[in-house]
Amino acid sequence: MSENVVWHQHTIDKAERAKALGQKPSIIWLTGLSGSGKSTLANLLEKKLFEKQHHTYLLDGDNVRHGLCGDLGFDDKARVENIRRISEVAKLFVDSGLIVLTAFISPFKDDRRFCRSLVQEGEFIEVFVDTPLAVCEQRDPKGLYKKARQGDIKHFTGIDSAYEVPESPEVHLEYVDEAPEKTAERLYELLKQQGYVS
Ligand code: ADX
Repeated sequence: MSENVVWHQHTIDKAERAKALGQKPSIIWLTGLSGSGKSTLANLLEKKLFEKQHHTYLLDGDNVRHGLCGDLGFDDKARVENIRRISEVAKLFVDSGLIVLTAFISPFKDDRRFCRSLVQEGEFIEVFVDTPLAVCEQRDPKGLYKKARQGDIKHFTGIDSAYEVPESPEVHLEYVDEAPEKTAERLYELLKQQGYVS
């Protein structure tokens, strides 16, 4: 924290904003390997929530790395900083009353825990998109696994960089060979059953 900076308490707070928007603000945090389907699912889930009149915002790894985190690479230190920035932004969005969806590999437990620690109990919903490496590699939508196997990309998650599996995610989305729309429906139902979305 910077020195000589005092937190300013605003009159309109999260509770007021949440009430005005008619929803419970939260972070729905999708984690999983590259190619696991996080972005696709987050996108479909956001559409569903939006159609139900929820106010949402989607933060996505590939997009955020074009701007806010455009200066960061993929070594461990850069990934930690990537998730730290995203977490702080997600926290601000929660404060603004939104339901924030995030789609980042977020390979390290401590970083996901950091984000959880920034918001209140029940506001951080960790969703493990548990698509096996073999399936992600088979999909290889951007041809990055192939490059990583050839040694043209270093520190690639699942190849020569670690992915720490979530131990107790709120939602464990197990892999089934099905259309993404079906998976998104499954995810929505799981979130609904547990009272995280309506
Ligand atoms: S994270 O590890 O810092 O959370 P993030 O989700 O932002 O990663 O970005 C992952 C995306 O960046 C991947 O889906 C892939 O398209 C691209 N990418 C490029 N290089 C790498 C790499 N070395 N490891 C993983 N993903 C990479």
